[in-house]
Amino acid sequence: MKLLLFLLLLFQNSFSWPHHIIPLSYDLLFKLPIHEFNGFTGSMVLHFNLSSLSDNITLDAVDLHSFRNISLIRSADLTEPSLKSIKILKETVEFKFEKSLFPGQYLLTIGEYNGRIGNASEALFERKKPLLYTTHLQPNHARRLFPCIDHPAVKALFRLSIVHPTDTVAQSNTIAMDVHVENRKWQRTIFQATPLLPAYLVAFSVMPDSNLQNRLEQ
Ligand SMILES: *[C@@H]1O[C@H](CO)[C@@H](O)[C@H](O)[C@H]1NC(C)=O
Ligand SMILES: *[C@@H]1O[C@H](CO)[C@@H](O)[C@H](O)[C@H]1NC(C)=O
Ligand SMILES: *[C@@H]1O[C@H](CO)[C@@H](O)[C@H](O)[C@H]1NC(C)=O
Ligand SMILES: *[C@@H]1O[C@H](CO)[C@@H](O)[C@H](O)[C@H]1NC(C)=O
Repeated sequence: MKLLLFLLLLFQNSFSWPHHIIPLSYDLLFKLPIHEFNGFTGSMVLHFNLSSLSDNITLDAVDLHSFRNISLIRSADLTEPSLKSIKILKETVEFKFEKSLFPGQYLLTIGEYNGRIGNASEALFERKKPLLYTTHLQPNHARRLFPCIDHPAVKALFRLSIVHPTDTVAQSNTIAMDVHVENRKWQRTIFQATPLLPAYLVAFSVMPDSNLQNRLEQ
């Protein structure tokens, strides 16, 4: 009986999420690699539905840091609740607001944040020879790439853009709808929106541009 209770508690803990935040879509931009801190910079606009009164927006996040240019806009009246504090905890990031937020739809913008590129085969990691950056977010590593509700039952639409070196190509879940060069060093690939997906099914890779390699070798 005690064991059953323990298992139930364990199950509840690992499968619970703040039910008052229902993500609708994520617009995500990742720029990589950033050699200064062996990682990437991210930018995110999360469109979500708040289903009950709350003074905080708490999202799953691990090893993400330096959150800057945060803003929240309430869709109904375009008001901007003022941010009181950002708390980075072990498994979450907590954005606290001066006043309680009423239920409804909101846009949370995180202008920029930093994350890490690892070398184990999880989250966003690096492979040498040929140099490759790729993701493996199953079962719960999406939170190492972007603040989210990282739960298999919570699905949303994702629009990804990747800023990557000009001698590489980027691939993701969906086809690229635009690729444009930003400067000598970087180009931007913009992908079509995904269907509704849990966060852990988001995937992308940045790899050497083999066409470019062939042209150079000829
Ligand atoms: C947002 O949440 C409210 C309350 O739970 C619900 O009535 C409404 O249908 C939801 N809207 C969307 C777009 O999910
Ligand atoms: C965040 O808001 C939820 C819903 O109002 C509440 O249950 C939770 O305790 C709050 N968390 C913190 C750290 O204030
Ligand atoms: C952040 O905000 C500052 C001041 O408003 C602005 O100069 C800067 O470009 C913004 N950065 C990002 C990444 O949005
Ligand atoms: C990756 O591996 C290198 C050695 O190959 C090590 O120095 C570095 O700490 C590792 N990085 C991470 C994030 O594990």
